[in-house]
Amino acid sequence: MPGVPVPLALLLAVALPAAQAQPFDAPALPGHDEGRRVWQGTCIGCHADGLAGAPPVGNAAAWAPRIAKGRPVLLQHALTGFFGPDHSMMPPRGGDPKLSDAEVGAALDYMLALVRHLSASTPKDRP
Ligand code: HEC
Repeated sequence: MPGVPVPLALLLAVALPAAQAQPFDAPALPGHDEGRRVWQGTCIGCHADGLAGAPPVGNAAAWAPRIAKGRPVLLQHALTGFFGPDHSMMPPRGGDPKLSDAEVGAALDYMLALVRHLSASTPKDRP
């Protein structure tokens, strides 16, 4: 590991898309084809396994307080970025400035549907 003085989240945002060997198999959900495509392209790197403090899709408990903020707030945070209390950082547009607002919104909707889908199909949350 080179000791490059780059903020961790930025480093991850740049390094992750290239290093995606994630075995996470994102299920197709009705009405979420576009969101799934964007999510698999960008969001999966952090939100599949909870990398860098990101809430993982398999952990409904980690998502509950975030979902309670309401979709408009979550979308705003996904678009402009968000620092949590532990200084973990959601990068603006998941680190891909090429994504449109609609694409980020579709990815968000897919992710929220995926959280519900996974919590319905698995008896307990992953740690
Ligand atoms: C480089 C890693 C990374 C990528 C890629 C990433 N996220 Fe995140 N995301 C995070 C982290 C870390 C947090 C938790 C921040 C915190 O609350 O401490 C987070 C939190 C969130 C939240 C919750 C915000 C809140 O208000 O609680 C949403 C919504 C979200 N991400 C959406 C997305 C979407 C949509 C994408 C793809 C377009 C994406 N993320 C890609 C790291 C990432």
